[in-house]
Amino acid sequence: MRGLAGKNVIVTGAASGIGRACAARLLQEGASVMGADLTPAGDAPGEPSGAAAWAFTTVDVTDEASVTTLVDEATRAFGRVDGLVNAAGVAGGGAVHMVDTGEWNRVVGVNLYGTFLTAKHAIARMMEQPRVEGERGAVVTIASIEGIEGTAGGSAYSASKGGVVILTKNMAIDYAPLGIRVNTICPGFIDTPMSQDVIFGLPGMERAKREIIAEHKLGRIGQPSEIASAAAFLLSADASFITGHALVVDGGYTAGRDHGVTEMLGLSGP
Ligand SMILES: NC(=O)c1ccc[n+]([C@@H]2O[C@H](COP(=O)([O-])OP(=O)(O)OC[C@H]3O[C@@H](n4cnc5c(N)ncnc54)[C@H](O)[C@@H]3O)[C@@H](O)[C@H]2O)c1
Repeated sequence: MRGLAGKNVIVTGAASGIGRACAARLLQEGASVMGADLTPAGDAPGEPSGAAAWAFTTVDVTDEASVTTLVDEATRAFGRVDGLVNAAGVAGGGAVHMVDTGEWNRVVGVNLYGTFLTAKHAIARMMEQPRVEGERGAVVTIASIEGIEGTAGGSAYSASKGGVVILTKNMAIDYAPLGIRVNTICPGFIDTPMSQDVIFGLPGMERAKREIIAEHKLGRIGQPSEIASAAAFLLSADASFITGHALVVDGGYTAGRDHGVTEMLGLSGP
C-alpha cells in the first residue's frame, strides 16, 4: 500500500485480536508501530519491514493521563504521530432491564469514551505537525456492524459502537480542513479472543453460532488480518480521498437478507 513506509502509527488494543493484527500488518507495510494495551503484548506481532520499529506501552484508554502519556511516548519514540488505530474494546450488554449501571459504564467507557480520549490526544498532536504529502495524519476507529444494525441483547455494546460511528463522521468533518482523515471500520464477527469469550467458545450457543455464521453471506466469520488490511488501506495514501466513511468488513452480514432464496435459485454449493 502506498505511503505507509516510514509512517508512525499508534495502535490501541495491540495485545490481542484485531489490534494485534493491525500492528502486524502495519509493520509489514514498513510503518513503525507504538502498540498499547491494558495487558502486555509480549513479542512484536510480526516482522518489521525496512526501517520500521515496534514499541509497546501499557495504557488504559479510559484514563486521560494514561492516554496523554501514550501519545507523548509515541512522539518521543518516533518523532511524529501519523496514524491511530483505535482497536481497544470490550464486549458486554444484555437487555436493558438486566444491565447493571456499572456494566453499562464499563462498556461505553472503553469503547466510546476510550475512542474519544485516544482520538482527542492523537489528533491534537497531529494538528501540531506540518503536513507530509498533503496530510497531517489519519485515524481509523474500530466500530462494529452492531453500530449500524441492532442485535438482540446488544444495548451497551451497540450503543457504544453506534456512538463510535457518528463520532468518527463528526471528527472527519472537523479535521478535514487540517489534512486529518478519520474513518471507521465496522467488522462482522471476527475470530478473536473477544468473540470466543462471548459466543464461539461458549457451550449452549450452538444455534446462535450457526445463525451468526449464516448471516455472513460468505458463510464464515472473518479473520483479524482481514480487518487489518482494511485499516492499513484507510491509513495509506491509497485512501487519500476517503474520510468520514464507515467501512463494513463483514462478509456480507449487513448486505441484506437471503431467506433461503439463493438455495432455491441453485446458487448455493461448494
Ligand atoms: N471480534 C469481533 O467479532 C469484533 C467485531 C466487531 C468489532 N470488534 C471490535 O474490534 C475491537 C478489537 O476487538 P477484538 O475482537 O480484537 O478483541 P480482543 O479482546 O481480542 O482485544 C481487545 C483488546 O483491547 C484491550 N483493552 C480492553 N480494555 C482496554 C482499556 N481500557 N485500555 C486499553 N486496552 C484495553 C484488551 O486488553 C485486548 O487486548 C474492539 O473494539 C471490538 O469491539 C470486534
